[in-house]
Amino acid sequence: MPAETQLELPIGDRLVRGDCLENLRLLPDGAAQLAFADPPFNIGYDYDTYDDKRSANDYLDWSRQWIAEMQRVLSADGTFWLAIGDEYAAELKVMATRELGFACRSWVVWYYTFGVNCKNKFSRSHAHLFHFVRDPHAFTFNADQIRVPSARELVYGDKRANPKGRLPDDTWILRPQDLAEGFGPEENTWYFPRVCGTFKERSGWHGCQMPEQLLGRIIRSCSHPGDLVVDPFAGSGTTLAVAKKLGRRYFGCELSDQYAERISERLASIREGDRLDGG
Ligand SMILES: C[S@@+](CC[C@H](N)C(=O)[O-])C[C@H]1O[C@@H](n2cnc3c(N)ncnc32)[C@H](O)[C@@H]1O
Repeated sequence: MPAETQLELPIGDRLVRGDCLENLRLLPDGAAQLAFADPPFNIGYDYDTYDDKRSANDYLDWSRQWIAEMQRVLSADGTFWLAIGDEYAAELKVMATRELGFACRSWVVWYYTFGVNCKNKFSRSHAHLFHFVRDPHAFTFNADQIRVPSARELVYGDKRANPKGRLPDDTWILRPQDLAEGFGPEENTWYFPRVCGTFKERSGWHGCQMPEQLLGRIIRSCSHPGDLVVDPFAGSGTTLAVAKKLGRRYFGCELSDQYAERISERLASIREGDRLDGG
């Protein structure tokens, strides 16, 4: 890609309509500090434009290409989070680490309620979140931004508990006490669910909308205000919205014109400093 077709640094907030492989090329090498990707899982999900039923080889070849782009656009101390379902979690982890050179810091399991109810197998209630970094010795991890109260403090009232709290486990339930902004007395939901149909947070036009609180934990811990956050599969725009609220710059791609239109509306309706939805 000739240099003149790339965006000048610093790159402002941007949502690009169209294919991520084509549009990520707009970003210079090393431009971003954090990438979060929640790609289609190749499970036949009904998106409005994208066909989510490819052959396994085709899906894996495509995944290799866009994950390599994540590697390219990230700074040397950059971080890449990948959300993925059971079907391809193992293969994409091996691809990202052994083939493409990322180091895996954590394999987080996000346990959610309100998953799809199954009839002849256990109902799925989790997704995989891989925390990859380019350099295992140099990366951003703002531990103090995401500490949660410990059982020692909350349950046992033990004075030896660290008053700053402790780091969350690698199984994320996102109970109210696990949320950075705490929770109000009116909130009685203990386990943070997928953003399901009846929730106030749900925008209603994208079935894969992720909770803002989940992205909040990732963006707070793995980037600084002013950093560039990239999401190649913007969907309903959660990553970009949370980046904006938390004072990060963002660059997102979305294949569907219809979704992209709605993301623009979502982004226009929020401001830096706004409270994250959910809780
Ligand atoms: C699982 S959803 C992302 C949901 C998102 N994390 C959220 O919270 O709303 C995946 C999205 O990727 C989009 N997509 C599929 N292929 C794409 C491509 N080649 N380039 C850009 N977007 C693509 C789909 O249209 C879909 O909206």
